[in-house]
Amino acid sequence: MTPDNEASWDALAGAYQEHVGWPDDELTWGWRTPPESELRLVSDVVAGATTLVLGCGGGQDLVALARLGAGALTGLDVSSEQLSHARSRLAEAGVAATLVHADAADLDRFDAGTFDLVVSVQALDYVADVDALVAGVTRILRPGGVLAFSVMHPAEAATDDTRPWPWTGSYFEAERDWVWDGLADDDLAFRSWFRSPAAWFTALTDGGLVVDRLLEPAPVDDRRWIERGWLDEDGYAKLDRVPATILVRAHRPRPDPGSGPTTAAS
Ligand SMILES: C[S@@+](CC[C@H](N)C(=O)[O-])C[C@H]1O[C@@H](n2cnc3c(N)ncnc32)[C@H](O)[C@@H]1O
Repeated sequence: MTPDNEASWDALAGAYQEHVGWPDDELTWGWRTPPESELRLVSDVVAGATTLVLGCGGGQDLVALARLGAGALTGLDVSSEQLSHARSRLAEAGVAATLVHADAADLDRFDAGTFDLVVSVQALDYVADVDALVAGVTRILRPGGVLAFSVMHPAEAATDDTRPWPWTGSYFEAERDWVWDGLADDDLAFRSWFRSPAAWFTALTDGGLVVDRLLEPAPVDDRRWIERGWLDEDGYAKLDRVPATILVRAHRPRPDPGSGPTTAAS
């Protein structure tokens, strides 16, 4: 049976937020991934930026972006349960944001050129149609606007979390069904598309964006990932040799002033 990501996220949301959740003290891109204060993927553009977060989950990334000085915030997520956690977190933090229940591959509801900044943290690998996703993001970014996101690295997804971390699938098969066991009452099935850095580069550039940075950072020491329940000792040690996260910063190019309609010389 094909996993239903929306239903699974709805069913997981309560336990996810209660037992693991995501940090909101600063914008956090991934497990053992250097902090935004070091990576500076959005720091130079976030101040006052009209910002959309794709796959905003429980709202942690929205709160972190508000603390970085973002302007008007919108969070979009396919799970209404995740959004209800976001609503509570935003109210508690005193952060205003518009929340939208939708699929990240369907951004037609937004006018062209609406956003200065589109951010996503560990969500775009749940989106099946990457071309629709990139076309939508390109359309809703203003010229010069920035897309910054993180996703799980396919090498992390295709290797076991227990020593000696053997390969359990092919690096080249992006589509992967998997089960989140032991967190919610039921084991929940998901379908992800763990695209390689090269596949992301191609999709983004084919869709009209310019890729400014494409990162596979070495891990930082941060045992909070064990304390928070995301990783056990083996899973933590695995990331010393297997990349955990892909990070991308891209932008929508401004129109070339020489390429517009020409005025007939009189
Ligand atoms: C691993 S969480 C990451 C979000 C946030 N950083 C967090 O940890 O709560 C993935 C989020 O993406 C959402 N999601 C999954 N597929 C989606 C889609 N096609 N469109 C929009 N959101 C999606 C899920 O509902 C979930 O909230």
